[in-house]
Amino acid sequence: MEQKLLELQNEAISQIENAEDLKSLNDIRVAYLGKKGPITEVLRGMGKLSAEERPKMGALANDVRSAIQEKLDEKLNRLEQEAVLKQLESETIDVTLPGRPVKQGNHHPLTRIVEEIEDLFIGMGYQVAEGPEVEQDYYNFEALNLPKGHPARDMQDSFYITEDTLLRTHTSPVQARTMEKHQGKGPVKIICPGKVYRRDNDDATHSHQFMQIEGLVIDEKITMADLKGTLEVFAKKMFGSDREIRLRPSFFPFTEPSVEMDISCKICGGKGCSVCKGTGWIEILGAGMVHPNVLEMAGFDSKKYTGFAFGMGPERIAMLKYGVDDIRHFYTNDIRFLKQFAKYEA
Ligand code: PHE
Repeated sequence: MEQKLLELQNEAISQIENAEDLKSLNDIRVAYLGKKGPITEVLRGMGKLSAEERPKMGALANDVRSAIQEKLDEKLNRLEQEAVLKQLESETIDVTLPGRPVKQGNHHPLTRIVEEIEDLFIGMGYQVAEGPEVEQDYYNFEALNLPKGHPARDMQDSFYITEDTLLRTHTSPVQARTMEKHQGKGPVKIICPGKVYRRDNDDATHSHQFMQIEGLVIDEKITMADLKGTLEVFAKKMFGSDREIRLRPSFFPFTEPSVEMDISCKICGGKGCSVCKGTGWIEILGAGMVHPNVLEMAGFDSKKYTGFAFGMGPERIAMLKYGVDDIRHFYTNDIRFLKQFAKYEA
């Protein structure tokens, strides 16, 4: 019986040594140490032994069991450690591999232009002001010296919502609102970007919805020279220091006198080409000295205060700056168009 037990021990131990995974190790444990295993079987025959031999055999059987158990534990430990090592190895990250590029979006060209213009004027001490797109007739027209029935209202075909509310046709109502808030006290120095709406048929240069940026300065002793100087700084920063500007007389009901500003054509250098329609000049914006009626209506004393205002279209500026030939490109969200502006991202 002793022989048999020792054989079992050797057999079990060599099987344990050869076991390659946790499952076969468990099978070996069940096979040798389980209730139906050979050791139990051997011990069943103990009844036949003499009283002296019985305790000896019992002790030996226990020794064999614990030897097998010890070997099992040891192997189990080793297999578990190996598994952890294997896992660690398979999960190691090769930090020297080049990264996969992450696709990044870029700003819409109009957003870029608006932010560029905002930054420029913020640098000159202006504040950014905003107002509602659904506007009252009063602020859109009346407070800007355009009473009901005024023929100049036809310059800006409007989307009316009710008799007294409309989609604003320009950003000038933000001027009127801001001036009103100041309650007759200067200075006012604002820039107002935003969407505006007009009943135009969409084509390469017209859109029923577009953007404007309006500027307004009110203080004592503001003159046309301040306006011209400001516009010149703006034009040179935006289009290049070699650009020239010129002011042409024009008409807006809310400014007097009114002007339109042109910049010299970059393409032909002033000689005349298709972009400047042979004139050497490109129209950029409308401007003028704030009409005394507009000042008075907003509560400013027009004898004490004067001011200038200007308004421009970021689309037009973006078209000139980036060579875009159709205003509708800005609104159709064709990713092939928009992606071309990624190169301007900081
Ligand atoms: N609001 C005018 C327009 O849309 C532009 C403008 C603004 C002209 C300010 C003069 C002064 O036509």
